[in-house]
Amino acid sequence: MDLTVQCNNYANVIENALNEWANTLCYSNSQVGEAAKYSLLNGGKRIRGILTLATCKLLSLDYKKAIDYAVAVEIVHCYSLIHDDLPCMDNDDFRRGKPSCHKAFNEENALLAGDALLTLAFEVIANCKLQPAENNIKAIQHLSRSAGPKGMIYGQELDLFHEKSPANNEQLDAIHRHKTGAMICASVVLGAVAANASQKEIETLSEFAYSVGLIFQIVDDILDVTSTQEELGKPIGSDVENGKTTYASLYGIDVCKKMANEINEKACETLKTAFGEKSDFLIELSKSLVERNN
Ligand code: IPE
Ligand code: IPE
Ligand code: MG
Ligand code: MG
Ligand code: MG
Repeated sequence: MDLTVQCNNYANVIENALNEWANTLCYSNSQVGEAAKYSLLNGGKRIRGILTLATCKLLSLDYKKAIDYAVAVEIVHCYSLIHDDLPCMDNDDFRRGKPSCHKAFNEENALLAGDALLTLAFEVIANCKLQPAENNIKAIQHLSRSAGPKGMIYGQELDLFHEKSPANNEQLDAIHRHKTGAMICASVVLGAVAANASQKEIETLSEFAYSVGLIFQIVDDILDVTSTQEELGKPIGSDVENGKTTYASLYGIDVCKKMANEINEKACETLKTAFGEKSDFLIELSKSLVERNN
């Protein structure tokens, strides 16, 4: 099946499930709940959820068994974007083509909406009936580690720290590995957990996912320079404005593109060796992430 068609199929399934959860999220008079719903159902490519479902399918299980895990990673990702846009972080006023959560609902509601979503993600997994309890525990272990202070949070900490002290290439890799790689890795690993993957399979898939995460953030850095707000749905030039070291500022656009291609080829080769033609969809998806323009 065509990559775009398959991605749209996965994204629709995720969207429907997110809508269902959003309806249970809050009391009807809650501004925080409204703010959380506004951001959660505000578009987004749903790449992380798609990775969860596609990984489950790669391992030969019906991908619908991983839907709650896909929903959970998208919810955590959404919380991270709300907080990432706050004035004390990247101070960005647009997200997914609309005013950022704190612009639409004020800062305190946005802060709490992020907290609400982070909490909700673990409620979703803890209540998942599609998987045995031991898989739900494993999913919580992986997701909490990846989102937490040795994962994405650490990446965000480093990202902000290096606004004041420029990062060298090793430090920049550490930023990207943590702030973006960790959640992309969790997305893939939760799909693997849903399909009862072996430890060896999880290790191979994690290695692939960290490469996808790095590619994803390299391209995000490039687009912050080369794209437009209309295309991206978020402000461009934000990284330069905040004094961030990025792949684009450290290596220049052309070198970045070459690096992203090389990382992708190597990662896809490893995946193909391990999983043969079952890996075709993830390989195509990874290639499309190098070439994406939003
Ligand atoms: C943006 O992620 C944040 C990064 C880690 C670069 P996405 O580009 O996946 O954002 P949405 O979910 O599609 O809005
Ligand atoms: C975001 O990185 C990483 C997160 C953990 C949210 P960016 O700050 O580069 O993401 P955008 O460009 O605002 O989407
Ligand atoms: Mg940021
Ligand atoms: Mg940002
Ligand atoms: Mg960015």
